[in-house]
Amino acid sequence: MCGIIGYIGKGEAFPVLVSGLNKLEYRGYDSAGIAVNVDADADADANEDELNLQKYVGKLSEIKFEAVDGSIGIAHTRWASHGKVTKENAHPHLDCRNEIAVVHNGIIENYKELKERLIDKGHSFRSETDSETIAHLIEDFVSDGFSFDDAFVNALRMLEGCYTVLAVRKGENRIAGARKGSRSLCIGLSEGTEGPGLFPSSDVLAFLEWADKVIYLKSGDVFFADTDLNLKIYNLIEDRIVERPIDTVKCDAEEVKKGEYEHFMLKEISEQDETLLRALQQDKNTVTEICEEMRRAVGTFFIGCGSSYHACLAGSYLFSEIAKVHVNTALASEFENYEDFLTENTLVLAISQSGETADVLDAVNAAKRKGSRVVGMVNRDGSILTRDCDQLLMMNSGPEFCVLSTKTYTSQVVLMAMLAYAYAGRCEEGLEKIRSLYLDIYNLTSRTVREHVHELAEMLYKRKNIYLIGRGLQYTTALEAALKIKEVSYIHAEAFAGGELKHGSLALIEDGTPCIVFVSSNNRSKILSNAEEVKSRGGYIIGVSSEREEVFDFWVKVPDAGELNPIIQIIPMQVLAYELALLRGLDPDKPRNLAKCVTIT
Ligand code: M6R
Repeated sequence: MCGIIGYIGKGEAFPVLVSGLNKLEYRGYDSAGIAVNVDADADADANEDELNLQKYVGKLSEIKFEAVDGSIGIAHTRWASHGKVTKENAHPHLDCRNEIAVVHNGIIENYKELKERLIDKGHSFRSETDSETIAHLIEDFVSDGFSFDDAFVNALRMLEGCYTVLAVRKGENRIAGARKGSRSLCIGLSEGTEGPGLFPSSDVLAFLEWADKVIYLKSGDVFFADTDLNLKIYNLIEDRIVERPIDTVKCDAEEVKKGEYEHFMLKEISEQDETLLRALQQDKNTVTEICEEMRRAVGTFFIGCGSSYHACLAGSYLFSEIAKVHVNTALASEFENYEDFLTENTLVLAISQSGETADVLDAVNAAKRKGSRVVGMVNRDGSILTRDCDQLLMMNSGPEFCVLSTKTYTSQVVLMAMLAYAYAGRCEEGLEKIRSLYLDIYNLTSRTVREHVHELAEMLYKRKNIYLIGRGLQYTTALEAALKIKEVSYIHAEAFAGGELKHGSLALIEDGTPCIVFVSSNNRSKILSNAEEVKSRGGYIIGVSSEREEVFDFWVKVPDAGELNPIIQIIPMQVLAYELALLRGLDPDKPRNLAKCVTIT
């Protein structure tokens, strides 16, 4: 779960690397580093060619890299998986002679065995990471007389697992890179006069301000690039030189800025009126075809992780309610338990904001092996899932930087609702209903609502536990709201289906225990009696509903949107999570221990 950016070309690598790392910090943020090839011929201050390495522990905002001249460089922002958060474990990693630098995202499954072999041959390791093995493997082949390119390919052939990797060598006019499995790698292309160059990276966001063209590499692709912008791509699996299409980058550089907002989280929460409309921009034929596929399928699964899973769950309730059809839902990380039931007639709808969540990609691959059809619902353009599925619905939410899903969650529920209406043959009516939420969402993200929710946050931010209840669709909102509160404020928040309390969890309620209750007109009396059960044990009831109810101690007013409540009711809860984080002095954009894109299983 790391971010990688490199540069090679006619310009300076340093500013590209630093700016790229900042854009990639959402992928990992416990340490970072850069390696720049300093060319003695080009740099008057350098007596000889040098590999300038700088590594630091901490968030990028706290790191000050020292500017260095050079037109070839690689950089990495890390989210620890193998080895603690230390400077030694930060990337880039070097070989024994400090000549080869490597950045890596992924897992080298056989690294222990490779490392032992390399140690026996006299290599000494400085870090606990699996990634360092790659630098020593390349070194080993170079010492055996192989060229840098061949050494790189030979090293890759020895790796088991999945990876994105970039490597440079002192004095060598080259960057080598590769991708395998569920790790992404693309190469930005710029012909600009300031510094035409190639920008290999895990994400287009890293080079948006420099390059407007991009090549997405496929699994097994290895590339070699030089400062004259010669680019060679070779596929290890097909064992041949390959050509990959050049695409236009579809992302606006303005979207990656915070603008007037203090945090991306608040910006992204506030964008939801617009992203609601953007999610509806779908090709009608695609929507109809997906509904047809669902009708033909003998069994449909909605799968995803985290918030995307909650959207799956909301989707299954929406299909029951609107389309009167049953859909299975499964956590993508648990999907292997269902694989035996997959056939050529099964349809899998995989939801993922990033399109690169490893659990989702693994589940999709398993489904494809069984011959099942796969529909992807994705936000990140060019991500692996966009290329791995049979049909695609894009969320069109624009980049989401905050680790918490906010606007992409509501877009996912919007798309689910849209599909359910289309399946029921009520497409136009559905679109109209969803569109009409625009103003409500705008109001729910206004300053007035934020101030009201801030009052609630003032009451809650020192609490150890918060409970949330809902029934039916509102239960899925309770789950999603609990996840938001947990991940950004670190307060324990737990959601229950209202009817389940009496089966055990009611024992948790004490004097003053806060309980957030999501009310909908169609199950009002049942959920209110669940709220009464909590209140009579001393609970403090926070109602999220269109009407003030007697049982409420605090009321968050939201319009009643019927079956579309999940799109509306979650918004003040996102705001609540944000306010709780601020009151607890936490950075809402970068919660501890988490990363935006979870590329490990
Ligand atoms: O990119 P994905 O939608 O596949 O990500 C899935 C989860 O990791 C993600 O929703 C996560 O739970 C968020 N941090 C929730 O806010």
